[in-house]
Amino acid sequence: MRRAFTAVILALGIVFAAPAFAQIDCKLGEVVIKFSHVVPPRGHPKGDFARMLAERVNTEMNGRACMQVFPFSQLYDDEKVMEALILGDVQLAAPSLSKLEVYTNKYRLFDLPFLFEDMDAVQRFTASEKGQELLGVMSDFGVVGLGYLFDGLKHFSADKPLLVPSDGAGLKFRVQNSDVAVAMIEAMGASAQKLAFKEVYGALQLGVVDGQENSWSNIFTSRFFEVQDGITETNHQLLAYVVFAPKEWLESLEPDLREQFLTIFRETLVKANGQAAKTSEENRQRIVDAGYTVRELTPEQRQQWSDVMRPVWGEFEDEIGKDLIDAAEAANVTKNN
Ligand code: LMR
Repeated sequence: MRRAFTAVILALGIVFAAPAFAQIDCKLGEVVIKFSHVVPPRGHPKGDFARMLAERVNTEMNGRACMQVFPFSQLYDDEKVMEALILGDVQLAAPSLSKLEVYTNKYRLFDLPFLFEDMDAVQRFTASEKGQELLGVMSDFGVVGLGYLFDGLKHFSADKPLLVPSDGAGLKFRVQNSDVAVAMIEAMGASAQKLAFKEVYGALQLGVVDGQENSWSNIFTSRFFEVQDGITETNHQLLAYVVFAPKEWLESLEPDLREQFLTIFRETLVKANGQAAKTSEENRQRIVDAGYTVRELTPEQRQQWSDVMRPVWGEFEDEIGKDLIDAAEAANVTKNN
């Protein structure tokens, strides 16, 4: 009954209100740069990046360019933002790489469970030649990948304790718009439901789904921990973004303005990525400090998660490319020793 009721709520598109967010007014003649994203504006690697970028653009390019940030899926959710970007309705977007499978199979690489052993490996791979090449895979759609933005590795939560994958059997987990994630959840004997980010809190609260998997920064800032039994520190999969811009828009900018914007962009991205791990750790600690349960796994328990989930790689190997998977795996230090 509860599920039927909440299914209606979701079908009607009723979502839980995000706090109002003041928007800066742009002046006549300024190039307007709209950045739409789905997370809060503060205390999250993506929110912090967008805010820091806007602060610099609006100070250093005042009179020539003006940046407006739309957090909390206020303007578009991730499923719609790429369409808006392709049409030039927004100038920057950084959807999770898991949400781009309608455009390309290549980013499925980043969804393979237990591919990267830590964020240092992710940074090494994304900085490599193959990692940098992947920034360009959306060019057929007229968008340019300006750089990787990192959140962190993901963890499972549910409305009951999870220590080994069989604890999740029979449960329903919310996943992003990703068939790799669906396969991973099904490997646990659980079922998966793709839901937009803005619907997750309500779906967990009302029992439409029993659990979810996400980064510490999302679990804390979107308060998923409040409506779950606890978080299990599985570090099973990556949550990362590419910041995209429409090619035509970028090329239409005056060369000196474009150069100034791209310089600020690159510097801010380096700064944001440099502080993402600390933000993630702080958000984990805030959950613990609030008295909620974080379950750490023994090496044997973590091995069970990996043993159950790694076989899904085989399903996606052909479309991703074995060479790419090997290159990503080679970025792990322990695999090379
Ligand atoms: C999610 O949908 O869980 C994430 O992609 C949200 C985000 O942008 O971090």
